[in-house]
Amino acid sequence: MDIFRIQGGNRLSGSVKISGSKNGALPVLFASLLCDGPVELRNVPTELRDIKTTLKILETLGARSEVGEYGSVNIQIQDVSSTCADYELVSAMRASICCLGPLLARRGEARVSLPGGCSIGDRPVELHTRGMEALGAEVSIENGYVVARAAQLKGSTVYLSGPMGSTVLGTQNVMMAAVGAEGETVIEGAACEPEVQATAGFLRAMGVAVEGDGTPVIRIEGRGRLDQGGGLGGGSFGIPPDRIETGTYLLAGAIAGDKVTIEGCNPSENLALLDLLNRIGVSVEVGTSTMTVQGVESVAPVDISMLPYPAFPTDLQGPLMALLCLGRGVSIITDKVFPDRFNHLSELRRFGARVRKEGPTAIIEGGAPLSGAKVMASDLRASACLVLAGLVADGMTEVYRIYHLDRGYERMEEKLRKLGAEVERLSEKELEQDREMELAQG
Ligand code: EPU
Repeated sequence: MDIFRIQGGNRLSGSVKISGSKNGALPVLFASLLCDGPVELRNVPTELRDIKTTLKILETLGARSEVGEYGSVNIQIQDVSSTCADYELVSAMRASICCLGPLLARRGEARVSLPGGCSIGDRPVELHTRGMEALGAEVSIENGYVVARAAQLKGSTVYLSGPMGSTVLGTQNVMMAAVGAEGETVIEGAACEPEVQATAGFLRAMGVAVEGDGTPVIRIEGRGRLDQGGGLGGGSFGIPPDRIETGTYLLAGAIAGDKVTIEGCNPSENLALLDLLNRIGVSVEVGTSTMTVQGVESVAPVDISMLPYPAFPTDLQGPLMALLCLGRGVSIITDKVFPDRFNHLSELRRFGARVRKEGPTAIIEGGAPLSGAKVMASDLRASACLVLAGLVADGMTEVYRIYHLDRGYERMEEKLRKLGAEVERLSEKELEQDREMELAQG
């Protein structure tokens, strides 16, 4: 298990190039199961662990994939007989529930392991399964698997808003199933996240009529009977830039930057973050596909809630908390999407941060001096929070279990080093050798 060792205090400057969107790419990869013809994807963040896991799952489902340069992935379905996504792979990544829709549409049946527990809180999938039922599938839970069958899916109106609002992956899952339905499907209470638009963009590139993505009402014209050998023809699609990686580097620039330019991003997808940065005194120059952020010594305190798009994203809650530790007063963050997503909080305390949790809310007393510490990453975005705190903490930080970070940030240590940060990746063995050497040198 790799470790990041960070010498805090270096001011960052220069530019960083944003990778393709992880959460945009994952459902699109699963959507390739709807196709018979070759699929060519560009700008896929192929080095991410979640992308590698997805390609493995696709292989078990009869898809041959080739990863090329610059994020190109070519996929060809060779065998449509398998309908089962196993526990071993699915339990590594919740997004794999997204093979439910395409398998049902193309193969008439799906057995997908229930993803199980997650360190960011409870993540049920009943909205996904209700959506499949609304399209006429019979769904049951058998031995830890979601089992869905449909001789023929039928287009229908599907309502997808639950107790915490809509569901991003659920919307994408139902969109993919609806491709194989007879007639039109209308998804009401659909998620509006840009990643849903990426799925819609891919389906359109494959010739499917989809409208309304980006709004709460999405319409999909079903193709009917895909399971009778009539998969989609294939085609080419480019994955948009990752708005969460973009936001993470904007926050890194605010925390530790002199002047950092984020390149190849889509600023219009980060308006909630840009508005917040403006309110707390961080200046950002916004171009068409670039943003330049000026670092600050401290920020004004703020009271903010994480909500579905276009509001402030829950995926940036952790990285934001690292910045608010530099606040000139008490900040309040409430996560209304994942109310238990606060694993980073107790680790932030190890840096000396004054943070505490009350229900779905974190209270951050800004201004406490941060000093380097050994901390444990517990999930993807919590890891990013700890790395950002390490950049500004006084002295040396070691972040353990960096494999969480590798699920969603491509080569983060290289990107940060290019900006002037002192970050190295060590295997546990290398760290051990370093320690022995230090001991030997007295
Ligand atoms: N929910 C239900 N029932 C369901 C599904 C969801 O109650 O059937 C609840 C969830 O428990 C949560 C809320 O609805 O409280 C929103 O969950 P959603 O289904 O939208 O989350 P998701 O689709 O499983 C995606 C991203 C997450 C991101 C969330 C919210 C992917 C692969 N994952 O998850 O990304 O936090 O949307 O924007 O797209 C990450 O990248 O680190 C990550 C966790």
